[in-house]
Amino acid sequence: GKRLDFRASKQRLLVVANRLPVSAVRHGEDSWQLEMSVGGLVTALLGVKEFDTRWIGWAGVNVPDEIGQKALAKALDEKRCIPVFLDEEVVHQYYNGYCNNILWPLFHYIGLPQEDRLATTRSFQSQFDAYKKANQLFADVVNEHYEEGDVVWCHDYQLMFLPKCLKERNSKMKVGWFLHTPFPSSEIHRMLPSRLELLRSVLAADLVGFHTYDYARHFVSACTRILRLEGTPEGVEDQGKLTRIAAFPVGIDSERFIKALELPEVQDHMKVLKQRFAGRKVMLGVDRLDMIKGIPQKILAFEKFLEENPNWRNKVVLLQIAVPTRTDVPEYQKLTSQVHEIVGRINGRFGSLTAVPIHHLDRSLDFHELCALYAVTDVALVTSLRDGMNLVSYEYVACQESKKGVLILSEFAGAAQSLGAGAILVNPWNVTEVASSIGYALNMPADEREKRHHHNFKHVISHTAQEWAATFVSELNVTIVEAQLRTRQ
Ligand code: ADP
Ligand code: G6P
Repeated sequence: GKRLDFRASKQRLLVVANRLPVSAVRHGEDSWQLEMSVGGLVTALLGVKEFDTRWIGWAGVNVPDEIGQKALAKALDEKRCIPVFLDEEVVHQYYNGYCNNILWPLFHYIGLPQEDRLATTRSFQSQFDAYKKANQLFADVVNEHYEEGDVVWCHDYQLMFLPKCLKERNSKMKVGWFLHTPFPSSEIHRMLPSRLELLRSVLAADLVGFHTYDYARHFVSACTRILRLEGTPEGVEDQGKLTRIAAFPVGIDSERFIKALELPEVQDHMKVLKQRFAGRKVMLGVDRLDMIKGIPQKILAFEKFLEENPNWRNKVVLLQIAVPTRTDVPEYQKLTSQVHEIVGRINGRFGSLTAVPIHHLDRSLDFHELCALYAVTDVALVTSLRDGMNLVSYEYVACQESKKGVLILSEFAGAAQSLGAGAILVNPWNVTEVASSIGYALNMPADEREKRHHHNFKHVISHTAQEWAATFVSELNVTIVEAQLRTRQ
């Protein structure tokens, strides 16, 4: 039948995510500095405008004292952010433990921790208990700020327990949940000791969203196989209650990037970069320093390319900008030293007194520097071993209208489904294939580059973060009205 459209009115929206768009750094008893947070979730949600939005989340810092908490809440209020305070032990067990040592690797097909990895944060059960406790704390803050008619939009794997907490306290609340990571095959999800509880809790939401149709399908199979519920094309049904499940591919605020390229400071950065790398082709990697990004594999593929193409050795450089992330989790610490070791070895092998083939930075860049880099580089290398969507690939495309650079993109990133036609798709595990794709990209004739870029650019500017959020919220409102109509019948 005809779909209702709720987009006209200004909807109050409570966005609930573990990570706030700003992270806090303490400067004194009651003085805080706020810095932009890094990550795809923040990038996507910052692109959402149209709504009357409040963010609820963690500011990334332990604030044990009341004076500090009050001052931080006040500073955040100016950004329409509301803090959830988590103590050190909860952060250790919930964030470092259950979220980033268990759920994140599992959802990206890395598997569950073996004994030694688990032992670092005590037992699985105590981590899951902390996870539930943390989700209850988020629910407390939501309840405090909720007004009737609000849409409560819960985000990501850190808050899978939240829909249930919210609905238990107020069954009328409009609750949506969106996953920013892949949802793995049900055969992978089955391994999780808390598989039942998590699925049931997510199903308490009215609408559940994923980046791709495949992730949505995996979730439905997990519900039918593990919970033995009935899956329909609309979603999953449990004792007459339907939870809508659908794909909502995210995008970026493409205009923000395109406009930034005109700014004098961005143009200045571009000039400096062009001079610095004159006479050489430049390849770019921008990632959080995470095991899912395939950074070691990317660098080894670049080494293989240099090995096999001596004529390119002084003519191409790889800039890898890898911002440290989740640094209290041992696996991430190991990755950092592994990457440093490989980069050092390759630079020692192929570098000269005046130049090295790889520039590796362990830091984040500010928005203007990042835009300049995206605009001046010849090739972007996105080699995720798994990735929910990957917005870096979108950002690169948005900034390449004049240069028409080539995107090499992992087929295991959600973005492969939207940018696959214009990108060179690769299997990041196949170092030989990636190396030859690097050669192909560097030698690609202008007309082919133009055609490929044009294809992707069209997609990036027409599938924005704003459109993503508007569609999700509209669909959530429709779902609730339809459910009301069904119960009246
Ligand atoms: P993820 O969410 O896993 O980090 P995405 O590619 O979807 O992956 O999003 C990453 C976001 O973080 C992008 O908006 C990107 O611009 C930003 N980002 C990643 N690495 C850096 C960096 N080194 N400096 C600045 N921003 C970064
Ligand atoms: C990914 C996750 C987000 C997370 C981000 C950064 O994008 O999907 O939920 O916020 O990485 O990670 P962090 O642990 O620093 O929040």
